[in-house]
Amino acid sequence: MKVLSVASEIFPLVKTGGLADVTGALPGAVAPLGVEMRTVVPGYPAVMAQLGKPKVLGTLEDVLGHSVTLLGAKVAGLDLIVVQAPGLYEREGGPYAGLDGIDFGDNWKRFAVLSKSAALIATGAIKGYRPDVVHVHDWQAAMVPCYLAFGDSPAPPSVITVHNIAFQGQFAAHVFGELGLPASAWADGVEYYGGVGFLKAGLRAAQAITTVSPTYAREIRTAEFGMGLEGLINGRADVVSGIVNGIDTDLWDPETDDCLVAPFSAKVLKAREKNRKAVIKSFGLAPAKGPILAVISRLTWQKGMDLLAEALDGIVAAGASVAILGAGDRDLEQAFIEAAARHPGRVAVHVGYDEPLAHLMQGGCDAILVPSRFEPCGLTQLYGLRYGCVPIVARTGGLADTVIDANMAARAAGVATGFHIGRLTAERIVDAVALACEVHDDKPAWTRMMKNGMASDVSWDASARGYVSLYQRLAGEAR
Ligand code: ADP
Ligand code: GLC
Repeated sequence: MKVLSVASEIFPLVKTGGLADVTGALPGAVAPLGVEMRTVVPGYPAVMAQLGKPKVLGTLEDVLGHSVTLLGAKVAGLDLIVVQAPGLYEREGGPYAGLDGIDFGDNWKRFAVLSKSAALIATGAIKGYRPDVVHVHDWQAAMVPCYLAFGDSPAPPSVITVHNIAFQGQFAAHVFGELGLPASAWADGVEYYGGVGFLKAGLRAAQAITTVSPTYAREIRTAEFGMGLEGLINGRADVVSGIVNGIDTDLWDPETDDCLVAPFSAKVLKAREKNRKAVIKSFGLAPAKGPILAVISRLTWQKGMDLLAEALDGIVAAGASVAILGAGDRDLEQAFIEAAARHPGRVAVHVGYDEPLAHLMQGGCDAILVPSRFEPCGLTQLYGLRYGCVPIVARTGGLADTVIDANMAARAAGVATGFHIGRLTAERIVDAVALACEVHDDKPAWTRMMKNGMASDVSWDASARGYVSLYQRLAGEAR
């Protein structure tokens, strides 16, 4: 079976968050199950630089006024179709924003062109290639199902995966006239609160909707988490499902990870101590008896980073130290820098994005703290489980689905893998950390939790089967 995946990021070529990890890992995860997945991505400079000698697969003369070249390349085991449109994608900055951090003003066009190009590929623009199913990710690719629905050619069925419903691709109404859609599309899916909604259009047009955990699939049916789309999601509840993300267990393997000072496994945990020392050194922490907590995160409201800033004094008083790696809101960066100044040796911040350091922290810190207000899946707690870095997480979305809370019953049964923060407040974060400090003092109990986590299945195996049976069902229904 052939599946065409469409996304705005893919690891290791371009990544701003977990979306890239997932789109980068999924092709390899479904391949053993007989799915050939090709991925359509924009030709950003970072992507173009890694293509080697790409093959021209075709040209599209006029995609919303842009001439597009489709380039084929195999990079890091991925089968890529790169949408090359220099005027749209070859600029300084990240995939969505310029060097000043401000979103590009023409993002609607950049991702409409990506989506329209992908829809053309799905309906035969590349000679000899016809996918059985199209799988699109987030708002940047959400217009693909809409273009397929309103196109002239018979189209393959599509599934849209929502990685984060907070990002919706909402634009002014006047944009509609430039999307190359028939007038009927306005009332038939694209109009969203008086403007244009890319994610909304995709959620309406796709044959199936998935999100990245079962709990988040339920949460987005409520006003609290649905961000205005709960009505639509409820109306289509029969096609909505949650498939929890896996992680790339080759890339994230404590036995072979080059970013670690010392590789280790559940059997040889002692070697882990060397990584802990390396974290202490790299962050300038004081040698600590209490647990060292890692925070590896976008510094945003979604991630509860303001609550963390509020909780830091209490966390230190409870006996833990904290190493923070992240970038994002300037105010939050500043708050953490100030907390580090108040607690030298106990709180340390590294502002920035550092993939190798993220690996070292998972392999050297004692716990990873993820106090998100909402978390569709979350990957850092999964990396933590695999690396014996015990997760302390908010009880929401994928965090609730993947971490077994050390409540009394779970501890008595010896099955806990982490700690849930009850109702999310700064006080409850401190409470959860205090409990973690207590368990950390009891070495056998803590080791048990680490080993439970390391033994839990965070691979793609089950989830890949979930996606493949969905693809098969969609392809079957289309026949
Ligand atoms: P989200 O996609 O919402 O940011 P996830 O937990 O799904 O959250 O994925 C975040 C990914 O980005 C993980 O791979 C994590 O290790 C990585 N990450 C986040 N911030 C940083 C950072 N400052 N440096 C390195 N990696 C980071
Ligand atoms: C989004 C979500 C995160 C999820 C990731 C990959 O960025 O915020 O929870 O893990 O997508 O699905």
